[in-house]
Amino acid sequence: MQVVVLGSGGREHAIAWKLLQSHRVQKLILVPGNDGALEQLQSQYPSKEIQFWQDSIKGRDSLQALAKKTKLAHVDFVVVGPDNALADGAVDAFEAEGVRAFGPTQAAAQLETSKIFAKHIMKAAKVPTAEFYEATSVLEAKKILSSLNWNEKQWVIKADGLALGKGVEICETPDDASKALTRLEKFSSSFVIEERLSGKEISWLAFCDGESCSLFPPARDYKTLTSDPLSPNTGGMGAVCPIPLADEALFVKIQERVFLPVLKEMKKRGTPFKGVLYAGLMTHGDEFWVLEFNARFGDPEAQVLLPLMNDDLLDWCEACVDGRLHAKGALVPSISKKAVYMVAAAPGYPADPTLGGEIKNFSNWTKMHRGFFAGVRKDAQGELLTAGGRVLGALGIGDSIAHARRAALENLQTLTFAGMQVREEIGSEWN
Ligand code: AMP
Ligand code: GLY
Repeated sequence: MQVVVLGSGGREHAIAWKLLQSHRVQKLILVPGNDGALEQLQSQYPSKEIQFWQDSIKGRDSLQALAKKTKLAHVDFVVVGPDNALADGAVDAFEAEGVRAFGPTQAAAQLETSKIFAKHIMKAAKVPTAEFYEATSVLEAKKILSSLNWNEKQWVIKADGLALGKGVEICETPDDASKALTRLEKFSSSFVIEERLSGKEISWLAFCDGESCSLFPPARDYKTLTSDPLSPNTGGMGAVCPIPLADEALFVKIQERVFLPVLKEMKKRGTPFKGVLYAGLMTHGDEFWVLEFNARFGDPEAQVLLPLMNDDLLDWCEACVDGRLHAKGALVPSISKKAVYMVAAAPGYPADPTLGGEIKNFSNWTKMHRGFFAGVRKDAQGELLTAGGRVLGALGIGDSIAHARRAALENLQTLTFAGMQVREEIGSEWN
């Protein structure tokens, strides 16, 4: 089969790497991918044909043109990685050309692209979530904020819409809230205002086929730049999977009280959700609440979930598209190991990353699988340079989280670039 993977980050590198393990995938095209991923995949799968297409995946017109091209090239299957492409209707564009594509339609992706939509679905499906208000203008938001109880509670303001992970502000005082609103106004004029919850966060992802779901093991991502919770928010500095749960029965509760009711509600509205649904949860003892939905694999969660997955990813993606997940079981088969992923970010990330630095010894990562590439490009001399805030990430697999951490740190030491920022303590809470 010829398979296309849309996107260029570490998540898409992991998706492509896992798809290539399928004996049915003979040719894989990354659109646009990155130079580090291409070289590593070509070196690790020498019997397969792996290439780039440099077509744009931004906006409906580009996606429609790409869909036509994939049809002409007899592409059999497309996996869509990033949220923007889903929000722009990537899956709808491929479907219109009769090309099978993995991911939700634009209408179903609203679970991620509109916080207000997601809250309405959760309310209708009785999914536990924070108490909330919605505002469709800054003025309305200000009125709501001034009427709230700030003595016993704190509040979170969320811009309605995609905001590159910068659309949420946690506010401790009314003064914080007014500053947050000024910043969030840039992203949207509609907002969700919800109660601040406390506890431990879990990223729980599941394959969905519109009706049934199969859950991955629970993971955690590390969103702040350093271990200081007040340090800047990033796209994710690393991940651990599976994380030990305080409540062993949580898996069944999440399936029955989050995924299945949401799928039922989406189907009822005529927009069944197919693809990976990612529930960002807050847990406290045996209680839990959904903070957000994403309509795709998380980055960097994919980089720990897929290396542990013990089955053919292509087959699972096809099962979602074809509506035959019920035959697969409630859990995604995974090896009984732990995975730790540590992102190496460029100096100055996230505010103002300095790019163009040389990545030394990167061939250590192409000959052996030590991690995934994201923000990298090759120059005319074939040197690999930093080209994005999150440059690459080291993967460690082990019998315990402590072992996996050590393996990730060892892999990280086999290449380097100037000013590398890493959260080396990732996973150390379970040492
Ligand atoms: P979201 O995009 O809605 O997941 O928000 C991003 C991050 O903001 C989450 O991963 C949490 O760390 C934090 N957050 C969102 N909503 C809440 C909430 N109601 N209470 C506490 N933290 C929250
Ligand atoms: N790791 C968070 C996300 O992918 O949105």
